[in-house]
Amino acid sequence: MKVKLASSYGFCFGVKRAIKIAESYENSSTMGPLIHNQNEINRLKNDYNVGLYNELGDVKENDTVIIRTHGIPKNDLKELKQKDAKVINATCPFVTTPQQIVKKMSQEQYSILIFGDEEHPEVKGVKSYATDDVHVVQQLSDLNTIHFKYDKIATVAQTTKKKEIYLDIVNHLILKNKEVRVFNTICDATFENQDAARELSKEVDIMIVIGGKNSSNTKQLHSICLENCANSYLIENKNELDNNWFTNHEICGITAGASTPDWIIQEVVDEIQKI
Ligand code: F3S
Repeated sequence: MKVKLASSYGFCFGVKRAIKIAESYENSSTMGPLIHNQNEINRLKNDYNVGLYNELGDVKENDTVIIRTHGIPKNDLKELKQKDAKVINATCPFVTTPQQIVKKMSQEQYSILIFGDEEHPEVKGVKSYATDDVHVVQQLSDLNTIHFKYDKIATVAQTTKKKEIYLDIVNHLILKNKEVRVFNTICDATFENQDAARELSKEVDIMIVIGGKNSSNTKQLHSICLENCANSYLIENKNELDNNWFTNHEICGITAGASTPDWIIQEVVDEIQKI
């Protein structure tokens, strides 16, 4: 099987930075999974003894705790500091930006609209910085049920969201409100990987998307690939490959989510080339 890699794929700046930080704090723990990739989390545990806390209550005095790329809610951060834990912040700077925007605009009495997934840790974190009226929408139609407290609206987006949908939401807001402050907080790393996946999926017979199944960024790549190539599959590692997918196909395209390490991608490439 011929393999073609997307022109841009895999680890982004924020994830590379967080891993480097974690590697420099042996015997520490992360608050929630550092990134959305179980294999890389296992590697950090095995090679650097970087553990994982899922509950704030489990953190003990003098622990070294690393904040993950998606950030954590403001009150959780405060609680961590009160526990006398050593807090190392590996929140991606592109996630810190919407947190600070929401804080500032909220203090200036803007109603806040976040385009994102309410249950996503990044959105929970960003939302926590609002001091007043704040809403989260996943799609344009969600706006119908929202009543803003103020006539000034400020909006930010989850870093991994599709820009086309954000534009629709922003257009709608402008038509209905007197003042709208729009902040484009969608991350360029996501655009680059998405554009490259879109192009490649038009050229190949089968697309393999490698990444965490709970990673919003990877799921997005998969849905973009499916638009152009019905034979698009999302896998976490080479063990999930199924030889039947490749029957009667010649060229396989490969892309990977922003939290997927190169060594996992290479293992998948090697395996597919053997088919
Ligand atoms: Fe940061 Fe963008 Fe990556 S927000 S974690 S650089 S996808």
